[in-house]
Amino acid sequence: ARVDKAGYKHFMAKEIAEQPTVLADALTAYLAGDDINIPTESLDFTKIDRLTMVACGTAYYACLTAKYWFEKLARLPVEVDIASEFRYREPPILPGTVSLFVSQSGETADTLAALRYCRGKADRIVSVVNVETSSIARESDLALPIHAGVEIGVASTKAFTCQLNVLLLLAIKAAKVRGTMSADEVASLLDQLRGLPGHFNAALDRDQTIEKAAIRISEARDVLFLGRGMMYPLAYEGALKLKEISYIHAEAYASGELKHGPIALIDKTVPVIVMAPHDALFDKTVSNMQEVMARGGKVCLITDPAGAAEAGEDVWQMITMPAVDDRLAPLLYALPAQMLAYHAAVAKGTDVDQPRNLAKSVTVE
Ligand code: G6P
Repeated sequence: ARVDKAGYKHFMAKEIAEQPTVLADALTAYLAGDDINIPTESLDFTKIDRLTMVACGTAYYACLTAKYWFEKLARLPVEVDIASEFRYREPPILPGTVSLFVSQSGETADTLAALRYCRGKADRIVSVVNVETSSIARESDLALPIHAGVEIGVASTKAFTCQLNVLLLLAIKAAKVRGTMSADEVASLLDQLRGLPGHFNAALDRDQTIEKAAIRISEARDVLFLGRGMMYPLAYEGALKLKEISYIHAEAYASGELKHGPIALIDKTVPVIVMAPHDALFDKTVSNMQEVMARGGKVCLITDPAGAAEAGEDVWQMITMPAVDDRLAPLLYALPAQMLAYHAAVAKGTDVDQPRNLAKSVTVE
C-alpha cells in the first residue's frame, strides 16, 4: 500500500504522532489477558543462561534499554553489542546463549552478518523486526514483529518505541517463566503498559512546549544529553536523533559520568538535556543538574510532575510528562526526545525525512 504524509509536513511528524495507535495495536497483537503471546516452545527462558543482543543505530539503543529490563525483571544476564564490532571480534558463544537481533528493516548488513556468525553456535537465534519478510526474520529461529507499520522517515521513531515494547514484553515473559516476577506483579505491569498509549497522547499534547524548547536548542552548536538507569540509553537515542536531522553536535553521557569529563564543556552555550522521571535515582540527577547550573549551564529537564516540583525554578526549560511506572519511562520519554529533534530540525530548515548522508537501511558495509 502507498503511504502518504496524511496531512503532516513530514513523514517523521506523522510517524511520531502514530505512536499511540501503533503501540495499542502492537499490544493487542501480543496480549491476551495476562498472557504474552510469544511461543515458549521456540524460546524457553528457563533453559537459558544469558542473552546476547546485537544491532546498529537506534535498534542498538533499544537493546541497551532492554538490558535493564532483562536483568532487573528476569535476572537474566545480557550483553549488548554493536553489530559491526561483534561480527569481527569472534566472540565466544557459550552453551545456554540466546542471540537476539533487533532491526527495523531486517536487512542491515552488519546485523545480518552477526546473525550468521551465531548460526550453529547459539542455542537460539531470535530477532525483533519490523519487516517480517526480511532476511534477518527469515534466518531466525523465531522472529517477533514489532507491528510499527511502514516507517519512511530516515530517523527511526515509531519503530524504536515498538522495538522497546516487544523487548519489554519478552523480558516480562522471561520474568514470568523464570519466577522472578509473581503473577500479580506481571498483571499489574501489563495493566500499566495497556495505559501507555493514553500517556503517549499526553506526551504529544506537549508539542508547543517542546517546540519552544527545541527552537532555543536549535541555536546551540553543541548539546549534551544526560540520563541515569533506563534513561541512560535513551540519552543516546535523544542525541542520535538530534544530530541525525538537525546536524547539531550532540553527545550523551550517563549522568554519573558528568564529573569524569563532560563537565569541562559546560557553559551557557551548551544546553544540557536531562531526562529524569521522579524515580529512585532522581535526587542524584538533581545534584548533577545543580553542578551544571552552578557553572552557568542551561538545563532542559524532561521529567514528571513530582520531578518538576522538586527540580526548582532555576531550570531553563521544563518539559513535564505524565507520571508512569518507572519501568515504562523509556518508552514514554522517547517521544519528547523525538519531538525535540524534529522541531529543532524544522527550525534549522533541514531535510527532516531525508537527512544528508544517511540511509534508511544500510545494506552494504
Ligand atoms: C540506519 C538508519 C537508522 C537505523 C539503523 C539500523 O542507520 O538510518 O534509523 O536505526 O540503520 O537499522 P535497522 O533497520 O537494522 O534497524
